[in-house]
Amino acid sequence: MQILQTAAALQAQTETWRREGQRIGLVPTMGALHEGHLQLVRAAAQECDVVVVSIFVNPTQFNNPEDYRLYPRLPEADAELLGPAGCTALFLPSVEEMYPRPTVLHFDFGSLERVMEGAHRPGHFNGVATVVSKLFHLCRPHRAYFGQKDFQQVAIVRQLVQDLSFDLELVAFPTIREADGLAMSSRNRRLTPEARLVAPALYRALQQAEQLVHQHNTPDAIRIAVAELLGQEPSITLEYFEVADAETLQPVSEWKPNQTIALCLAAQLGGVRLIDNVVVKTV
Ligand code: PAF
Repeated sequence: MQILQTAAALQAQTETWRREGQRIGLVPTMGALHEGHLQLVRAAAQECDVVVVSIFVNPTQFNNPEDYRLYPRLPEADAELLGPAGCTALFLPSVEEMYPRPTVLHFDFGSLERVMEGAHRPGHFNGVATVVSKLFHLCRPHRAYFGQKDFQQVAIVRQLVQDLSFDLELVAFPTIREADGLAMSSRNRRLTPEARLVAPALYRALQQAEQLVHQHNTPDAIRIAVAELLGQEPSITLEYFEVADAETLQPVSEWKPNQTIALCLAAQLGGVRLIDNVVVKTV
C-alpha cells in the first residue's frame, strides 16, 4: 500500500490509473478506523480495481473546537489495518495541504441541512461538502463509499454529486454495530468505561421507536416516548430525536403508506457526541 501525502501525488497517481483503465474506489474517512470503515474498504476492493482511503480530520466540519482537538488520531494503527482490507493507496494530507488558504466556499443545501445535524452543528455540512468536493476532484473516483450511520451526510453528498455533476457512483453501506447494539464510531474510543456501558441505550431507544412505528403510534407520540425513555438515563443528554422522511429528511407529522422513515438521534454522553439512526417502512 502506498502512502500519499500531497494533493499533487494523489492527482498524479489517480490520473495514471484512469489512463490505464483502472476503476477507482474512494473511501473518505477521518481515521480512527473501525470495522464499519473496513467493510467499506473491503467492498471497494471487491467492486473496483484500486482503492484510495483518505484519512483527514477535516477542521472545517467541526463546529466545536474541543471536539476537533479531541478527535482520535491513530494514523499508524490505521495504516496497518488498511493494507489487509484491500486499500491500494492511503491519502494522508496535512491541514495545510488540503487548505493552503482559508476556504471561503459556501454551500447551501436548503431544507436538507436545516434539520438535525445541520441545525445542531452550524457550518458542519459546509465543511463536509468542501472537503468531499476536494477529495472527489483530486481522486476522480468511479465509486465513493460512505456509511449510513451518517444518514444526513449521505443525503447531502448525494445532492452534492447531483448538483455538481460528479461522475461517480455513491455507495452507502448500513451501520455496523457492536454486539450490544452501539453503532460503531471513531468517537466511541473517547467514551469512559461507564459511558460505554450506558451508550447502547441509544440504539435500544431507536429499536423501541421502530416498534412504535409498527404499532401505528403517531410521530409525535414516538418523539415523546423516546425523549422519556432516554430521559431516564441521567448521563445521556438528548440533543434531538427526529422522525424524518428518509428522502427529504423533513420531520413527519403523519404517516403515509409505504413511506420510508429515518429515526435519527444525537446525544451527548460524558462529553462525547454520538449519533445513530434506523430506517423503517410504514405499511
Ligand atoms: O464521515 C466522515 O468521516 C467525514 O465526514 C468525511 C466524509 C470523511 C468528510 O470529512
